[in-house]
Amino acid sequence: MKHFLNTCDWSRPELQAMIDEARAFKASPKGDALKAKTVALLFLNNSLRTRTSFEVGVNHLGGHAVILSPSGGMWPLEFEDGVVMDGEAEEHVKEAAKVLSRYCDMIGIRAFPKFVDWQEDRKDKILNAFGKYADVPVINMETITHPCQEMAMTMALQERLGQLDGKKFVLTWTYHPKPLNTAVANSALMIAAKFGMKPTLLCPTEDYILDERYIGQAAKDAGAHGNALTIEHDIEKAYDGADVVYAKSWGAPPFFGNWEPEKGIRDRFKHFIVDEEKMAMTNNALVSHCLPMRRNVKMTDAVFESANCIAYDEAENRLHVQKAIMKALAG
Ligand code: CP
Repeated sequence: MKHFLNTCDWSRPELQAMIDEARAFKASPKGDALKAKTVALLFLNNSLRTRTSFEVGVNHLGGHAVILSPSGGMWPLEFEDGVVMDGEAEEHVKEAAKVLSRYCDMIGIRAFPKFVDWQEDRKDKILNAFGKYADVPVINMETITHPCQEMAMTMALQERLGQLDGKKFVLTWTYHPKPLNTAVANSALMIAAKFGMKPTLLCPTEDYILDERYIGQAAKDAGAHGNALTIEHDIEKAYDGADVVYAKSWGAPPFFGNWEPEKGIRDRFKHFIVDEEKMAMTNNALVSHCLPMRRNVKMTDAVFESANCIAYDEAENRLHVQKAIMKALAG
């Protein structure tokens, strides 16, 4: 039994096989890989795409999805081992994982970091607890990384560019009024490097450089392909010759848990918006975003509505890649 917690746990050929399977699902959506099977989808955070695409995908494969969320009446869970459970939590994650494994054949988890204590968040405790205690495969539906989004993005890029090796991939930080999760940024950089692209991280200051774990993984994978990870604060240098521009906003790691001073920094960099002027510096780059996206804050309408924007294709591909992932895990 194997979980799908992070793409680092899977080789490039294994991931490519799932993307190839996803392309087959795009052409012919139905199958029986989950016939008479049940998939529990646990959402501790909001979602439009992930929830819908997983539920539809399970249905397409002949299975049944059960959506669980705190707002839907689930018992509050305890994730720490060995604690005296005299607080709000009524049930330990161990029981939740073990009992769900008796009813269901697969479990999906969405659990964003709380960004109060990054050293705690980076342990990805909720996902790893399900991975540890569940007796069925577990899928990461976004925690501190977003591997399903990585797969959908890679598939969308391959659909337009074919071979990705050697393409210049720019992950650009963009402004957002709130400090957002770093998951998609971590993921985008890692998968770009893993698939042989030349990754550049464009962010306004050193404060916005992502966690060493993900920077290190991206640098290692880039190196294995003879590429180097570039960290850039100069917009023109980053956009110059780019084949792909991926927009995302995230909170600055040194300020996790203390956002007030970070807001003053973030507000100075609204000009990091992806606009036509910047896109004109690229090699006619494709542009995308994981969505949801604040228009004319992160990306202008003109860029988002342009023929080079593949955000809708990427969103659609969530459905196809997740079916391929579930099929692979169902074995
Ligand atoms: N991209 C993504 O995961 O979208 P949702 O948050 O709507 O699921």
